[in-house]
Amino acid sequence: MRILLTLVLFFVFQAQAANPAAVRAEHGMVVSRSALASQAGVAIMKSGGNAIDAAVATGFALAVAYPSAGNLGGGGLAVIRLADGTVVTLDHRETAPGKASRDMFLDGNGAVIPGMSRQSHAASGVPGTVDGLLVLLEKYGTKTRQEVMAEAIRLARDGFPLSKDMADQFAEVLGAMRNYPASLAIFTRNGEPYREGDIWKQPDLAQTLERIAEEGRDGFYKGRVADLIVAEMGRGNGLISLEDLANYRSVWREPIHGAYRGHEIWGMPPPSSGGVLIVEMLNMLEPHDLAGLSRDSAPAIHLMIEAERRAYADRSEHLGDPDFFPVPIAKLLSKDYARGRFADFRVDQASPSETIAAGKWPAESLETTHFSVVDAAGNAVALTTTLNSGFGNRIVVTGAGFLLNNEMDDFSIKENTANQYGLIGREANSIESGKRMLSSMSPTIVTKDDKPFLITGSPGGSTIITTVLQVIVNVIDHGMNIADAVARPRYHHQWQPDSVMYDAGAIPPETIKSLEAMGHKGFRMFPFGGLGDANSILIEDGELHGMKDPRNEGLAAGY
Ligand code: DON
Repeated sequence: MRILLTLVLFFVFQAQAANPAAVRAEHGMVVSRSALASQAGVAIMKSGGNAIDAAVATGFALAVAYPSAGNLGGGGLAVIRLADGTVVTLDHRETAPGKASRDMFLDGNGAVIPGMSRQSHAASGVPGTVDGLLVLLEKYGTKTRQEVMAEAIRLARDGFPLSKDMADQFAEVLGAMRNYPASLAIFTRNGEPYREGDIWKQPDLAQTLERIAEEGRDGFYKGRVADLIVAEMGRGNGLISLEDLANYRSVWREPIHGAYRGHEIWGMPPPSSGGVLIVEMLNMLEPHDLAGLSRDSAPAIHLMIEAERRAYADRSEHLGDPDFFPVPIAKLLSKDYARGRFADFRVDQASPSETIAAGKWPAESLETTHFSVVDAAGNAVALTTTLNSGFGNRIVVTGAGFLLNNEMDDFSIKENTANQYGLIGREANSIESGKRMLSSMSPTIVTKDDKPFLITGSPGGSTIITTVLQVIVNVIDHGMNIADAVARPRYHHQWQPDSVMYDAGAIPPETIKSLEAMGHKGFRMFPFGGLGDANSILIEDGELHGMKDPRNEGLAAGY
């Protein structure tokens, strides 16, 4: 009896110690940061919609149910693989307003005006989310705007009970909202913090959504909502004009394509740096026997960090909006370039970042959210969306009920000056009127034998790219199931600063000692919740395995 009890306790302990399991489903799956948003997406598929319809429904629901990152006033990036094998990407990133200029965040002496690129009306780029979601729906969806937006409208109008997580998030940001009455009106109850279980309603936002459902993009980019955005700009130093709004367009872009150990990688092209860097790093890693090294060993982590260091150095010099700067995409993606770039890799020694310049060749940067969707036909959507910082610039458009982004901070506001993620940049990512700021958002689809295999992505600013890299490598090289691949503690290096950030438990103490002996330095435990939030789906033998990142709330909903 005692032995039996011991065995039972042993297995209970094992089960608790293990990661939560992935959710399995046959027909369709949505994995997002908000249970309400995931359910909105799945309901659309159950009623006959495809993955694109579901993604649009999830996107609008996130704008209501997860307002620190889900948004109408921000932007996003989407990678879509259709059941027929076509892969497309939709850039609905914000743009710099027409009146924006290179030195707009500097004072008369050329010094950065502290905080202006993050906490001001001028921090906002022209929002792209509404256009993006509507364009996706028009091009590849099967449902009407009213159908895919109904749940978002209902959640905004009738409200929903706040989870502890959400009530805590609101309480945390209140101080930063104190100068903005419209923000306080939404995120407090008459100035007092909301509590878990309170029913939270957003009537202005419900009206804005209804207008969009009714009029399409004109319901946001023209007329009353546009007027309200411009009026909000007038309450501060904001630059967004009626003309900027009317002119905003999402852009279809060729996906980044790479090959890695028998898999195809489909990523987001510039103005994201994510797709290029992920493929560049995989190309550097491919000649090395990563599978033969234990994942947490010093040699394996050394190899990963050295690839990250070189790729992020390239980011700072070469990546920006391709419509404004000649980004050498093909070169950066070539296996030959990666081999050359990694030629000075030493198995036993770190390369200090001071000695790593951006790659050259002859003649020739907290809060975001990612969701993954798959339907029964095999259509897949990876979509990452953001206001940049948590709750963006914390400024709600008075009367319209949604927050504005502070994406202008993703530009290089001054050469070699770190943004909020410690990223530095130069000419390629300088501010210009109408230009898109460089992103790290990396929605990614991996295919195998011409079928969707892995749908992934993450928030986390500069750490997005290394989070996605680790999910891919955990699955492909280390043979992990999706639950382990996502839950596994992560680490991150971004060239500058020359330091290694890591989740609790990611690098054993003795491995840190070995890595320090090789010359790696600046080991710092990541101070917030965990690195990234990689809501992912893996498809194996026709079965969908959805994994909500256990670092945060959310839901893998399937049927
Ligand atoms: O586009 C980017 O790279 C950033 N604006 C993303 C911000 C972010 O991930 C914040 N998240 N935790």
